[in-house]
Amino acid sequence: MARLVRARLALRRLAAGVERLAARVTIRSAVGKLPTEGAGFGPADWNIRKEGSPMRVPPQKFVHIVYRTRRFAEMLAWYETVFDAKVQYQDPALAFLTYDDEHHRFAFANLAVINPDAPEPAKRGLVGVDHVAYTYGSLNQLLENYAWLKERGIKPYWCVHHGITVSMYYADPDGNQMEFQVDSFATAEGANAMMHSPRWPANPIGVEYDPEDWLARLRAGTPASALLERKVDLPVSPIRGAMTGAA
Ligand SMILES: [Fe+2]
Repeated sequence: MARLVRARLALRRLAAGVERLAARVTIRSAVGKLPTEGAGFGPADWNIRKEGSPMRVPPQKFVHIVYRTRRFAEMLAWYETVFDAKVQYQDPALAFLTYDDEHHRFAFANLAVINPDAPEPAKRGLVGVDHVAYTYGSLNQLLENYAWLKERGIKPYWCVHHGITVSMYYADPDGNQMEFQVDSFATAEGANAMMHSPRWPANPIGVEYDPEDWLARLRAGTPASALLERKVDLPVSPIRGAMTGAA
């Protein structure tokens, strides 16, 4: 008899364990579905519009880090050696490197060119991480998330179309900078081709856009593809944020 009771108890524990596991799997798959569609106007965007109010959207993935340096050549050589990274584009002020199919995993800003006249203590303070970057699932998600954050008093300090990405830069309360972006091209080949074309040296920084205007246009039904493709390469935006002090 005691053996039967023990067996029943063991069965009940097993059933409870399976139930807990099933619940966990359901939650995981629901979360995984949020940002999986590609850049553009996808099913998740329809869900956002149906709700009729801005929605917080998590990024799809972490993608790159940008350093400010006064050891430009030395830093490039180190990352080429350690990460087997290849230079995608380089000029005296900026360099973009990658080690996989992402258009860039590292970028380096040469402070000796961009901010040579900073006072001595600031010169040391400027060296280090400029920003980290996260990719969003679609332009609509990026803009609806912008609206959601704005309602809470959190606004980007720089909205710029880089050509390869549409980007919004935010700073946390400590001033750590981050970029929320959407890829402009559906494939890595498209972005790489742009970085190797004459369009890139003509403007390796980007062209600013008005997020309010873009949000209104997307909500009015303008397809994301119409905004993702940058039609003009000028004017060159100033670099905003801690690097130059322009905000
Ligand atoms: Fe970036």
